[in-house]
Amino acid sequence: RIIAAAAIRGAHRIVSRAEEALKEALAKYGPDHPVAFPNTGYYLPVIYGITGIAVEKIGDMIPVLEQAKALLPPEPEPRLWLPYLGPALDAGMATLFADEIIEALKYLEDPPPYTMTSAPVNGNIWLGAADDAILRKRGIEFVDGTAPGFAAIIGAAPTNEIAVRIARELQEKSLYVFMSASTDGKSMAEQLAEEGVELGWDTRLVPFGKDITATVFSLGFATRVALSFGNVKPGDFRRVLLYNKNRVFAFVIALGHVDDEKYAQAAGAINFGFPTIADTDIPQILPYGVCTYEHVVSNVPHDKIVSRAIEVRGLKITVTKVPVPVAYGPAFEGESVRKGDMHVEFGGQRTPAFELVRTREAHEVEDGKIEVIGPDVDSVPEGGRLPLGIVVDVYGRKMQEDFEPVIERRFHYFINYAQGVWHMGQRDIIWVRISKAAFKAGFRVRHFGDILYAKIKSEFANVIDRVQVTIYTDEEKVLALREEARQAYARRDARLKELSDEAVDTFYSCTLCQTFAPTHVCIVLPERVGLCGAVSWLDAKAAYEINPHGCNQPVPKKGVIDEWKGQWESCNQFIYEHSRGTIERVNFYTIMEYPLTSCGCFEAIMVILPECNGFMIVNREYPGMTPCGMTFSTLAGSVGGGVQTPGFMGIGKAYLASKKFVRADGGLARVVWMPKEFKEQMRPVLEERAEEEGLGRDFVDKIADETVGVTAEEILPFLEEKGHPALTMDPLF
Ligand code: SF4
Ligand code: NI
Ligand code: NI
Repeated sequence: RIIAAAAIRGAHRIVSRAEEALKEALAKYGPDHPVAFPNTGYYLPVIYGITGIAVEKIGDMIPVLEQAKALLPPEPEPRLWLPYLGPALDAGMATLFADEIIEALKYLEDPPPYTMTSAPVNGNIWLGAADDAILRKRGIEFVDGTAPGFAAIIGAAPTNEIAVRIARELQEKSLYVFMSASTDGKSMAEQLAEEGVELGWDTRLVPFGKDITATVFSLGFATRVALSFGNVKPGDFRRVLLYNKNRVFAFVIALGHVDDEKYAQAAGAINFGFPTIADTDIPQILPYGVCTYEHVVSNVPHDKIVSRAIEVRGLKITVTKVPVPVAYGPAFEGESVRKGDMHVEFGGQRTPAFELVRTREAHEVEDGKIEVIGPDVDSVPEGGRLPLGIVVDVYGRKMQEDFEPVIERRFHYFINYAQGVWHMGQRDIIWVRISKAAFKAGFRVRHFGDILYAKIKSEFANVIDRVQVTIYTDEEKVLALREEARQAYARRDARLKELSDEAVDTFYSCTLCQTFAPTHVCIVLPERVGLCGAVSWLDAKAAYEINPHGCNQPVPKKGVIDEWKGQWESCNQFIYEHSRGTIERVNFYTIMEYPLTSCGCFEAIMVILPECNGFMIVNREYPGMTPCGMTFSTLAGSVGGGVQTPGFMGIGKAYLASKKFVRADGGLARVVWMPKEFKEQMRPVLEERAEEEGLGRDFVDKIADETVGVTAEEILPFLEEKGHPALTMDPLF
């Protein structure tokens, strides 16, 4: 129980640090000066989630500090035996409040110590708090299981080599690695940076901050997952903590000497159900009445520390073994291979390259056969180029041609998961690089085949019985087969164009997000992609055939109630049943009346602007203000959680290009404002659609953006001057 005493001492120290910092800030800026973590609708998330207090000004921190002090048990005598963990848990919570006060005040410094980006910039590796865009993007990985959880690492490993090994092992297990604090002035993130390891959210190696108080960013992330995906109300601390204990699989790894302030963080994490695993000798405590597993495990050797942590936290991680000479897993997906680091590249408009899945007859596919036709990568000088054609022939009794693009689009992930191998694009615009390090480790062209074989066989086991991979690097052959591939792509596109909501008798549901948003149901239509942008009707259909008991189910289209607005009896019934009776009816083609609900994963949000008689659409990457008076983050808080909010709707970006895009509200002609970058990104499809709708290609230039203004008053004159069609359409109400 010595740890309890140490945690309490550490908590006292951190709370007084917070008191000092707050006093200084009050003197310097005054109580009304705004204070916030960047780009978030969750204020200081641990404080907000646990107490319900929304800290917006420095003065708002005063009552929080009071609460922290009230939670602090009296400072114990050295080596005092405490009978249970209660006071230590309180001390841990007080520590987290104090941490957040200290960290938030750092953002008032000019410049702030953090990059506020998703990867290090200009030699500063410390990223600070994740903004809501990062949270939502990464949060969905916790939802769909691509990320089973996170490891919060405090301190540093005894050597850089050990630091790299631990990081790689966690990456291979697909866990996020949140790093903070230091041991003897050194932090694990710095060790990784010295070894040239790529840091940032994309590689799942996230350097939060060097101060011990930056550990709170991990718990803030966990709290926000509960608030945003779990629909837990701020201030409902029991549910915030229980949600984390039951659904967010996280743990703390303490490397190096654990001082009082680190104990205090560990105690804070135990509140969330996150145990601490240490490489040094720290006293074991087994409190009664709190929970059933160990909270602190000490003296774990470095080669066992990851597996021990996973075991203690009760995590089940299944990894498909892929026979390649480099590390393999989703954490390596975000890694880039820069020009200077590459051994060889393929495609990228420099050499011909493509990938293709072909459905074949049984006798045409020899299962497991992998063949390379043409020179291998050791025949080119370092930094060289080769053509590449990847042809995957599949056979399965339940295979359908419609699944080909679904499988083919997975290549991007499958290939990227290999460490030191980078893949971009699809079809005949792929661009692939193999790094010098991967080449040195023995990665060769045939390993593309090994990867695709292993992954396709495991992920599509229900529809595919045989897989054969042929990889061409011979230019003549690549060119010839690319012609065949292009014909296949054209056939698919023609088929996709034919697909319409009218042409099918079945829609598909997606309830993947229910693990985090329990009443949310997405209905995916041929002409409406799921709001996360990742699930099309074909994807959902394929997913259903692949796993009939999964979260994509057929929804028959029967008993039309309103054809124009898109309402069917059978769909209503399905949604009612699967939303636990919270949603009774849905119109697919309007946002004004019984619109589809949103979970939290939407790529963009559409909102009515009554003054402009139209809608604005904001994408999640856009951090600024919008004409509805709210940023994306604030909007997200009111749109998500599986509730119907007329006039507000989460959408996938591709939905903008759909012929059914809010048809009953007037369609594309109603779009009056979009962020500039988003508009440019969508320009080609928007122009095409505008032309089809008879609005003219220049309609896109009639849509206002932030350079025109971010209030309805600011954009109205622009819309009038351009003669925007929304202004003369029927009133929306
Ligand atoms: Fe979640 Fe809907 Fe996307 Fe499915 S389609 S993953 S429910 S947002
Ligand atoms: Ni416990
Ligand atoms: Ni979702």
